[in-house]
Amino acid sequence: MKVRGKFPVTRLRRNRRERWIRDLVAENTLSSSDLILPIFITYGVNKSEPITSMPGVNRFSLDLLEPIIESAVDHGLPAVAIFPEIKPESKTIDAKEAYNPDNIVCEAIRKIKNMNKDIGIICDAALDPFNADGHDGLVLDGKIDNDLTVELLCKQSIVQAEAGCDIIAPSDMMDGRVGAIRAALDEKHYEDVAIMSYAAKFSSNFYGPFRDAIGSKTLLKSDKHTYQLNPANISESIREVGFDIDEGADMLLVKPGLPYLDVLAKIKETYGLPTFSYQVSGEYSMLKAAINNGWLDNDKAIIETLISFKRAGADGIITYLALEAASLIENSH
Ligand code: PBG
Repeated sequence: MKVRGKFPVTRLRRNRRERWIRDLVAENTLSSSDLILPIFITYGVNKSEPITSMPGVNRFSLDLLEPIIESAVDHGLPAVAIFPEIKPESKTIDAKEAYNPDNIVCEAIRKIKNMNKDIGIICDAALDPFNADGHDGLVLDGKIDNDLTVELLCKQSIVQAEAGCDIIAPSDMMDGRVGAIRAALDEKHYEDVAIMSYAAKFSSNFYGPFRDAIGSKTLLKSDKHTYQLNPANISESIREVGFDIDEGADMLLVKPGLPYLDVLAKIKETYGLPTFSYQVSGEYSMLKAAINNGWLDNDKAIIETLISFKRAGADGIITYLALEAASLIENSH
């Protein structure tokens, strides 16, 4: 740095002195096209149920879905991600409701597609909403059976594709599932259905409120450490992603969000694929808890967390804040 007398000639503050110049030199921007809205759906009619551990987020029965989709379209969101709470009695240890072509996920997909809107639909491939023990995989003799689970995930992906799902998002972390799902989709001529692999999904405590939302928390007796990644590992996550890409993943997802920005940055830099981040339920709850206590400013905290994802290299963010953030972005212009 050049110095004249005791003062610097280069003054970084020149580019920060007014809002217009800060905007001019901004390295990253947040737009509604970066935001994907997760929607919790439930059985029954005329139900809009608050999820206690996620203040401000509700589960909706399918008859209430249309206005939410309309609002997502109006705000310019490119896609929604559907997560179901199914009837407790439909949860079985063989999770067969997962590949019932008339399950509520498929019904929701058809309903949204019938609206003929320009918005994408993303669906999980994982058994947990349908499994009596709350696991993403089939439990046999107390262990998660990898290969049997993959067979069911293929069936689940096919019924979702048949219903009109645009992007299958395997969130189960079984080995080999991306390749198997790709082959199963192609065999049925769903070559255009994309796979967004939850390639680096960590075994996180921050999924707790989501498990409340889909009704799997009290069922889940153990943890998911034998299939989800250890939060201590980054090299392993890079390896894991490499396999998913070789198997045909079109896009990648890193999850959770803020505590794993280092992983996100490294994966984007290493592979260069479209890479997304999921600001998960526990992150949402943590923020809103502080906001609702008056300890953080709602609007500023939301925008700051979301721009952090962009800075770390995310091409988009799945976030429960999508609609709220889109409104904030619109109002800031
Ligand atoms: C299930 C799944 C989970 C989330 C998305 N898909 C939970 C889990 O793995 O237990 C978490 C999302 C969130 O916490 O918001 N396979």
